[in-house]
Amino acid sequence: MDSEYKIPAHVAIIMDGNGRWAKRRGLPRTMGHAQGARVVEQILEDADHMGIRYLTVYAFSTENWTRPAAEVKALMNLLRSYMKTSLVKCAKNNVRVRVIGDKTALDEDLRESIDYLEQQTKDNTGIGFQIAINYGGRDELRRAVSRIAQDVKDGRLSPEDISEDTINGALDTGGIPDPDLLIRTCGEERISNFLLWQLAYSELYFTEKAWPDFDKAELEKAIDAYNHRERRFGGLTEVQS
Ligand code: IPE
Ligand code: IPE
Ligand code: MG
Repeated sequence: MDSEYKIPAHVAIIMDGNGRWAKRRGLPRTMGHAQGARVVEQILEDADHMGIRYLTVYAFSTENWTRPAAEVKALMNLLRSYMKTSLVKCAKNNVRVRVIGDKTALDEDLRESIDYLEQQTKDNTGIGFQIAINYGGRDELRRAVSRIAQDVKDGRLSPEDISEDTINGALDTGGIPDPDLLIRTCGEERISNFLLWQLAYSELYFTEKAWPDFDKAELEKAIDAYNHRERRFGGLTEVQS
């Protein structure tokens, strides 16, 4: 392994355990989500300071609609408030925000504030911050396939010209490099429909810490672990050959 310490360019996080965190404290689940929202803002700053270029967080999955209506509403309200309050901070910290997922199912006012935040931050050159809302990896692929099929139908593209780049470009994450490191908190070791295409060669890191307890020291631990991984991408390393 080379001795140089590597900061992953793109870190993706499945922020899990808000509900359990709250329950352990005898609080309603929504309090866990509120604390989780504070943590994500802090981690964005920490990631930026550490030199991470892209941070992608899973805020609401296509499956999370099946939760009780009150919880869904509380989550949407947190997202609403984030889109409004983060404008000034994103400008100050040069953050570029992109929401991935199917925005068409979101309430119109939320969609508008997402569009506004994306528009206002699109030329920022600092960390790229992707927030996955109503996101599912399968749904993202379905929408991408549909777009590509339309291009074929309209004669802009022929089937034999469909490359991996065509698919990359049709995904919500188009133009963003694949995650180098995926972190999932609170003990669960599964992908839960997150970034199915993009995680092909990401290193996976799981921690028992619930998301509301996650902090810079935990992020550093994950990056330390990443530095002990040997990424092969299907090839051979010097040790093996
Ligand atoms: C993660 O915390 C936040 C969302 C999925 C929206 P959870 O709400 O899943 O918390 P647990 O897994 O029930 O503890
Ligand atoms: C994944 O967490 C989705 C988000 C973090 C937004 P879940 O808590 O919804 O996933 P499962 O149900 O445990 O797989
Ligand atoms: Mg969960």
